[in-house]
Amino acid sequence: MRLDVSLWPAWCRCSKSIRYVLHIFTIVVLVFLVLQYGIGLVLTRDHHVSWLNNASVRHDLDRDIDEVVRKWQATDRERNLSTNCPYLPPKLVGRLYINETAPSWEELERNHRELQPGGRFSPPNCKALHRVAIIIPYRDRESHLRVFFNHMHPLLQRQQLDYGIFVIEEAPGIKFNRAMLMNIGFVEASKLYNYQCFIFHDVDLLPEDDRNIYSCPDQPRHMSAAVNTLDYKLPYPEIYGGVSALKKEQFEKVNGFSNKFFGWGGEDDDMWVRINNAGLKVIRYPLDIARYTMLGHKKDEPNPERYKYLYSAEKRLKTDGINSLIYKRLDLQFRKTYTWVYVTFNEADVLAVSHLTIIGSKHTKL
Ligand code: BGC
Ligand code: MN
Repeated sequence: MRLDVSLWPAWCRCSKSIRYVLHIFTIVVLVFLVLQYGIGLVLTRDHHVSWLNNASVRHDLDRDIDEVVRKWQATDRERNLSTNCPYLPPKLVGRLYINETAPSWEELERNHRELQPGGRFSPPNCKALHRVAIIIPYRDRESHLRVFFNHMHPLLQRQQLDYGIFVIEEAPGIKFNRAMLMNIGFVEASKLYNYQCFIFHDVDLLPEDDRNIYSCPDQPRHMSAAVNTLDYKLPYPEIYGGVSALKKEQFEKVNGFSNKFFGWGGEDDDMWVRINNAGLKVIRYPLDIARYTMLGHKKDEPNPERYKYLYSAEKRLKTDGINSLIYKRLDLQFRKTYTWVYVTFNEADVLAVSHLTIIGSKHTKL
């Protein structure tokens, strides 16, 4: 067989077989580059994922974001409301019927034309007392999302809040890190609007009573105190999981959540330590108000490493949190009923950040 080795001509003073290898190598590299570019284009078109960090895609994305934020601001300006909403929202109904059937996205969007892009709402006739970002750490629970929005949008609107719902979705291939997703939600939502209250919310928990107001009082609030699957009782006094509310300044003061909890459990207990350490105290509504229904799902494997990090909670809190958050935002979309933020991070990189603290006169490396 005659081999065409013209790509590596005679100036390569090497044997014919080496020229043949160089030739094949060059073709492989060229095919790889073409494929990578092609896959990048398909991904950015179909899933709006800028894996290749494509500069023009990024630019368009940022322009879309600015445009929506300007629309939000214009609505606020046009309304120019001078009367505050009442302290007690007049349309609350108390105990609620929990509808666990998921509507279709079309139905949901049809029923919520009052929402601004990104699932934002503010009362049309009075100035809301609270600007609230609901942050949902998320992966793989699409039908729960629909049940959640169907239940939550009417409730939050009856509570007359200026609110936005942010779904922070973790890309596949890495262990779920609920706490990091919530930290990212805090950072991303804060870039878009001056939210003063952050409610971190599992997607599978539905409040059973609308007197459970989604606001941030003077102390951090644990909202999901009475969950049906836990017999509507607190399993232990320091529990801070499920749904929790912190003011912006409080979240900054405690340096957000720890980034170290990959897999299930512990990150909320670590937050309890942070809150107490900052001189704050968790409060709750009475158990007959703070009631929640949990949607059914398979239980995740608990993370055996969580105790190791819990033991060092106090030593890490100043250096492990929003001030050491490393992630990549792959996408952000203002969908009709919520804002979708798609992110990734690297477990090894996050765990490699070591936290040096001075305890007495000793340096302790964790
Ligand atoms: C975990 C928490 C969880 C709680 C209740 C604890 O063992 O560390 O993360 O919220 O159990 O399920
Ligand atoms: Mn759950």
